[in-house]
Amino acid sequence: MKVALITGASSGIGRAAALEMARRKHHVIAAGRSETRASAVVNEIQAEGGSAEFLRLDLASLSSCREAAGGFEASGRTLDVLINNAGVGGVRGVTEDGFELHFGTNHLGHFALTHHLRRTFQAGTRIVVVSSEAHRRAPGIDWGRVQAKTRLRNLFADYAVSKLANILFVRRLAEMQPDWNAYAVHPGVTNTNIFPAIAKPLFRNRATPEEGAQTVVWCATEPTLSGETGLYYSRESSRDPSEPALDDALAKDLWNRSERWCGVAPQHG
Ligand SMILES: NC(=O)c1ccc[n+]([C@@H]2O[C@H](COP(=O)([O-])OP(=O)(O)OC[C@H]3O[C@@H](n4cnc5c(N)ncnc54)[C@H](OP(=O)(O)O)[C@@H]3O)[C@@H](O)[C@H]2O)c1
Repeated sequence: MKVALITGASSGIGRAAALEMARRKHHVIAAGRSETRASAVVNEIQAEGGSAEFLRLDLASLSSCREAAGGFEASGRTLDVLINNAGVGGVRGVTEDGFELHFGTNHLGHFALTHHLRRTFQAGTRIVVVSSEAHRRAPGIDWGRVQAKTRLRNLFADYAVSKLANILFVRRLAEMQPDWNAYAVHPGVTNTNIFPAIAKPLFRNRATPEEGAQTVVWCATEPTLSGETGLYYSRESSRDPSEPALDDALAKDLWNRSERWCGVAPQHG
């Protein structure tokens, strides 16, 4: 049985993707910061006859990312699919390590998790990163702001930067590790818990979480995608991301800084 680790499996798009991956005969590792919330989806999967387990992971803590990956690696299994889905939006604060909360959780935590899981990957392992069309609102990355050096915050702008970082990460990962397959996905505007209730009327015609999970699961499983890596997808087809998302120098800079900030040994490429 193939093994798929999904972050943010307790809610919204991640929960729907976890259920669908289990139906497609994957053993699901539901990674989350709350055992109660993530175990609910584990129980749902098992009740449907599928196979799943909980893994403790707080993406806002680099040590938690290291421990979660270490725990999985110690089990001696290899990972076929990693879905970096969890995310926060419209929040204020900093991570345990002092990074702006959107950037630290949505990008840096997933960067660290992916790095620490690398020994469990094999040729053809798929890494699906859930980004957003919101990335188009980010003209670039202000390195001072992501290190929380300013008190003046625009929460939607900070979210957009983290979603830009998701795409830059996928593009650089594809360049550094051509044996793996990396995909960035916009799930579509979806009815979930990510934004506060007050912001919900701004988004009409929102998709269901099952619809939101569709392209995520497609990137994780579609056989015809095995020759593709480093692209951005929406509605089951690839599309061009913004100009900053295609900036190779920015992707490299982000990668090098992320390695330094996560305290991991540089990989060359
Ligand atoms: N909804 C949309 O319209 C939309 C559009 C474009 C992109 N996206 C992207 O879709 C992804 C999933 O979001 P969603 O809309 O499904 O939102 P959601 O219902 O709020 O789910 C977010 C998930 O992330 C988890 N999470 C948050 N902080 C975490 C942390 N520090 N460590 C571990 N897990 C954490 C949450 O776990 P808890 O249960 O512990 O809170 C939850 O499972 C995000 O990356 C988001 O940016 C969403």
